Amino acid sequence: MCGIVGYVGKDNAKNIIIDGLKRLEYRGYDSAGIALIVNGGIRTFKKEGKIRNLECELNKLHLFSNIGIGHTRWATHGEPVDTNAHPHSDCSGKISIVHNGIIENYSELRKELISKGHRFESDTDTEVIAHLIEEELKNSPSFFPAFIKAVRKLKGSYAIAAITVYEADKIFVARKDSPLIIGIGNGENFVASDIPAFLSYTNRALPLDDLEVAIIGKDSFQVFDIKGNEKEKEPFTIPWSLAQAEKAGYKHFMLKEIYEQPRAIADTISGNLPWLKGSVPLEGINPKTFNRVQIVACGTSYHAGLIGKFYIENFSHLPVEVDLASEYRYRSPVVDEKTLVIAITQSGETADTLAAVKFAKKKGAKTLAVCNVIGSSVTRESDQVLYTYAGPEISVASTKAFTTQVVTLFMFSLWLGKMRNVLKDEKVEELLHELMELPSKVEDFLNGEKERGTVKEIAESFYKAKNALYIGRHVNYPIALEGALKLKEISYIHAEGYPAGEMKHGPIALIDETMPVVVVATKGSVYEKILSNIEEVKARKGKVIAVTNPECREVKEKVEAFIEVPEVNEFLSPIINIVPLQILAYHIADFLGYDVDQPRNLAKSVTVK
Ligand code: F6R
Repeated sequence: MCGIVGYVGKDNAKNIIIDGLKRLEYRGYDSAGIALIVNGGIRTFKKEGKIRNLECELNKLHLFSNIGIGHTRWATHGEPVDTNAHPHSDCSGKISIVHNGIIENYSELRKELISKGHRFESDTDTEVIAHLIEEELKNSPSFFPAFIKAVRKLKGSYAIAAITVYEADKIFVARKDSPLIIGIGNGENFVASDIPAFLSYTNRALPLDDLEVAIIGKDSFQVFDIKGNEKEKEPFTIPWSLAQAEKAGYKHFMLKEIYEQPRAIADTISGNLPWLKGSVPLEGINPKTFNRVQIVACGTSYHAGLIGKFYIENFSHLPVEVDLASEYRYRSPVVDEKTLVIAITQSGETADTLAAVKFAKKKGAKTLAVCNVIGSSVTRESDQVLYTYAGPEISVASTKAFTTQVVTLFMFSLWLGKMRNVLKDEKVEELLHELMELPSKVEDFLNGEKERGTVKEIAESFYKAKNALYIGRHVNYPIALEGALKLKEISYIHAEGYPAGEMKHGPIALIDETMPVVVVATKGSVYEKILSNIEEVKARKGKVIAVTNPECREVKEKVEAFIEVPEVNEFLSPIINIVPLQILAYHIADFLGYDVDQPRNLAKSVTVK
C-alpha cells in the first residue's frame, strides 16, 4: 500500500515528483523517497515519516534533473525507517527501483542473489528487484530485456518503476495486481499509482493491465506484454478536474467530501440512469441466467453491501448473501454460473475484493463491480461495471463513496426487479422519483448543519467518551455499523454497531450513565420497535443521541440529544441517516486533535491481502 510517482520531461522532476507524492500520501505515509538522475549518476534521498520531511531535506539542495522516481511507503516488509524507504538500488548504484505490492518469493531470490555476491542494505522485499535486474543484465544485450526477465521471476503483486544510468532518459515500469497508470503529457510523461498524482499536468491517462510492462520516455511510451511483445493501447481522458481533488476551503478532505454528497449522489443517479432506463444495455449481465446473488466487499463498502441485500431481496426476490471479501474465498461458498457476484469497492484496488472476484470468476459466476475508480483492477476483472460518480475520495475515511454505492445498488435492484418482472414500471418510476429528491434533502440537512452546528455541539459534549454504542434496525442496522466504524477509525474511540433488537442478548450489559448510545430512529416499519429499544437504554441510564425526523416527537422527548434529518422513503433513509453520523465522527476526531484525513495505521487503498 504505497504510492509511486515517476516523471520524465523538460521540467524539474524533483518538484513534480514531490507534488505527486503529496497527492498520494493517502496510500501510505510512514516514509518517502526519491531518486533522480543527475549528471549521469543516480542521487537518492529517503526520509522516515511524512513527505514534508523529505521535502525539507531536498529543499536544502540545488538539484536539477528531468527524470526521476519517487515513493511514499506503508510498511509491509521491514520497519518504517530511512534504510527501508524506497527507492532501492542494485550493488553498483546504477539501477533504482520503487515498488508497490508484495514479492512473495523474495526470500528465495534474496538467498540466491546473496550466494552470487549481491549485498543488501534493507529488509525489504523490493530490494531484490534491483539486484535481480543487475544479475540479468550480465546476460542481456540491454536494460529492457534484463528488466523483463527479472520481472518474470517475481511472484506476488507489484507495480514497479525503475530508472537506470544505462538509459538515462527512460522509466521502465511493470504491473501485476497493483495499480499503475501512465500520464501522457506534452513533451513530458508521468507514471503513478493514482491519477491525482499527475492530474495538474495532464488529463490523458493509460492504465496498465496485469502483466504489462512499459518504457516511458519524454515524448514516447511503449507497452508490452510480459513476453516482450509490443501492444497497442489507447489513452483515455480523465473526467475529473484537479479542483475536485483539492480541499476547496474545508479544513479536511473528509469534511469536504461529506459536503459533496448532494452533488455526488445526483451525479451517480444521472450517470446510471441510461442503463436503468434501458437506453444503454448492461451487456455483461443477463438477469434471467442467475438464481442467487453474492455481494463481496470490505469495510465501509461491505456496509453498503448489507443495505444492497435489502434492496435486491425486496425488489427482485433473489436471495442475497453478503460476505466480507477477506472471508469469502475461505468458506467454500456455493458459487456457480447461476450466481451473480457483486464486488463493491471505492478504490477498485482492495486486494481481498479483487481476489474474491477472481475466485468467483473461476467458479463460473458472472461478476459485477460497483466502483468509483475508472480503469481500476476490479473493474477490469469484472464482466460489468457500474460506476459511482463520487469523484476522487482522498480522506481515508470513506463518506461520499459509501452513499453513492448505496444509491447505485438501489438503482441496480430496481433494474433487476424490472427485468425479473417483480416491479411494475410505475413502481420503478415512483421509487426513482423519490431517489431523485434525495440530493436536495441531503443538501437541506447539510445547510442546516452549517447554520446551526447541532452535530458539532453534540460532538463537543461527547468527545471525551471512551466507548460508544450505535444501534439501528432493518435497513438502518448497517448504518449503526457504519456510524461506529467512522467513529473508531478516526477518533480511536471504541465503538460498536449492533442491531437494536440484539442488544438484550449481550451488549445491554455495557450500558450505564457513561455510555453514549447513538440510535438511528427515523420513521419506517420498525419505528415502534426502536422506540422500545430507546426505553431499554434509558432504563439503564445510557445517554441517547438519536438521528430522527422532525415529526418524531416520541423520540425527541425521550433522548439527551437528537439530530433531525428530513423524512424520506424507508429504503432510502440509510443514505441520509449516515450523513450526521459521518459529521459526528468528524467533529469528535477534530476536537480530539487527530489527523482526520490520515488516521493512524490506515491507508486509503488496501492492496495487501
Ligand atoms: C472506512 C474505509 C474502509 C474501506 C475498505 C474498502 O472508512 O474507507 O473500510 O471501505 O478498505 O475499500 P474499497 O472500497 O476501496 O474496496
